[in-house]
Amino acid sequence: MDVLGLTTEDCGAAIALWAEAGLTRPWNDPAADFQRALQGATSVVLGTKRDGVLVGTVMVGFDGHRGWVYYLVVAEAHQRTGIGSELMSAAEGWLRHAGAPKIQLMVRNEKLPAMKFYERNGYEESDVKVLARWLER
Ligand SMILES: CC(C)(COP(=O)(O)OP(=O)(O)OC[C@H]1O[C@@H](n2cnc3c(N)ncnc32)[C@H](O)[C@@H]1OP(=O)(O)O)[C@@H](O)C(=O)NCCC(=O)NCCS
Repeated sequence: MDVLGLTTEDCGAAIALWAEAGLTRPWNDPAADFQRALQGATSVVLGTKRDGVLVGTVMVGFDGHRGWVYYLVVAEAHQRTGIGSELMSAAEGWLRHAGAPKIQLMVRNEKLPAMKFYERNGYEESDVKVLARWLER
């Protein structure tokens, strides 16, 4: 399976997948998220296609300390065929190459079913609370 770096042309298809899976939020502009990741020197949106159609994405970034993963999604019709695991493996490879020693991600409480997937892929829950503050408002 080919996992490739996505381009601006893939933005609409990626956002459609994110919206279908309930990953978008009214307070996040997904197109701006996509473009920021493409423009960043240490970030990327990876994806995979079947018959030319985008069926999975993962956004990856290295902040100089840790690698982070966002917007992991596989189109429902293609789930449980190993694509999610391949995308995470590609994210890990990209981060290793970028020099990140560790990969982290956040799982919304409503997405707890995804925990089984992450555990199956070798991820463990960390004993941390995540704090946030908007810088643009
Ligand atoms: C989470 C997600 C990306 C997994 O993608 P996927 O391609 O279906 O995952 P894989 O086929 O690689 O699954 C590997 C293993 O993870 C586990 N797993 C995957 N999805 C699971 C689920 N919904 N429930 C329980 N275990 C699951 C299984 O052990 C699976 O192996 P198996 O199919 O042989 O039993 C996909 O379900 C998805 O897009 N969900 C909606 C969006 C989402 O929640 N994203 C994560 C936000 S943090």
